[in-house]
Amino acid sequence: MTKAGPWAEWEIPGKELSLIKSPPPTDSPFESCLFEQLERWKSRRPLLITTRQALRPRVQALLSSFPAATEPLHIPFSVPYPTYEEVEKPLRKALRFAPDGIVAIGGGTVLDLAKVLRAGLASGGDLEIFSNLPAPTTFKWLPMVAIPTTAGSGSEATPFAVLYRGTTKTSLQHPGLLPDRVLLDSSLLADLPRSIRMSAGLDALAQAIESCWSVCATEESRALAHESIRIARDHLLSAVEGQQTSLKAMQQAAFLSGQAIATSRTTLAHALSYGLTTEYGTSHGLAVFLMLPRVVRFNQQLDTSNCQDPDGPEAVQARIAEIERLLGGPSPSPLDQQLERFLSHFNISPDLKDHGVRDNQSRERIVTGALRSGRTNTNPREARAEPLIECLAEPPTTHPTRQALR
Ligand SMILES: [Fe+2]
Repeated sequence: MTKAGPWAEWEIPGKELSLIKSPPPTDSPFESCLFEQLERWKSRRPLLITTRQALRPRVQALLSSFPAATEPLHIPFSVPYPTYEEVEKPLRKALRFAPDGIVAIGGGTVLDLAKVLRAGLASGGDLEIFSNLPAPTTFKWLPMVAIPTTAGSGSEATPFAVLYRGTTKTSLQHPGLLPDRVLLDSSLLADLPRSIRMSAGLDALAQAIESCWSVCATEESRALAHESIRIARDHLLSAVEGQQTSLKAMQQAAFLSGQAIATSRTTLAHALSYGLTTEYGTSHGLAVFLMLPRVVRFNQQLDTSNCQDPDGPEAVQARIAEIERLLGGPSPSPLDQQLERFLSHFNISPDLKDHGVRDNQSRERIVTGALRSGRTNTNPREARAEPLIECLAEPPTTHPTRQALR
């Protein structure tokens, strides 16, 4: 990457995503760091992209405290997941405004939407160009600060942005989507609703687990994922209850999990989760975590005929056993049961029927969507429709309170 004035310029032909390093996070109240960073970039017309509902007083205070010479354009979003439809109008508005920097403050959806706007600004409004790597052109990328307000998606550490077209999930990927600066301020997490803290934390842990067994993982990405799992093991439950030290720890876990999947990508549990989110409204992290114990069982049954990992089935089994040990401590129970126990701790049924998936047609739709998502070729076991539909039909191993949470 070369820097020229306020622009970050990427030369990308053939660039491997696995070589990209995320910028180091900064852990302190974000406002002063942000102004300092914008000053360094000489940004006078930043685009400020935030959630509409959450943190309203803090964002309002921020808007009124920008230095006099700075004129930000504020674009608030209020959507459960990022869509093309949602981003079209703001993109036109942003193109007219011609910003010289981007500040994104929000959860995974907002960070992804900010990345999409950044991509649209770099390409003069063309988003299709980012659907495949390598993108054909060298673009000028606006510098971007990402300030996550949930400890979950790790989007602040990845060069991807999820974008749904209707109910079909697509993904933009480009080295230029990786934010230049990440500010982690744990005070932003304090007022989050418990359900969001839970869904976000489950997403971070699921991503780290999937990252470990992804066929695209490297030793380095696995080390990041292992560290993320260790932190989540010790802090996820208390972070969901609002314990400040644990929230701060989970922010780190989410960042590490984002860094890990920046190399490895996510796998089958994420692929299967998308239909649960778009059709049944289940929040992203919870949807992934409902699929995860099933995917553990599915992957544990791999053999040489369906193993997609060049290291072979034994290596994959060893990686799953390592996750089991990391998460379970000295005398771990089977990994799928450990994962279902997280759900039962939150009083959530692990049975997909309790979340709306009651018949074979529903299961078929979820599996068809997953197979189209491009997230199954990273999974160690080849994903075929029939065994997957069966896998979704299986009852969970445990039967805690049958209560679904959307
Ligand atoms: Fe995720």
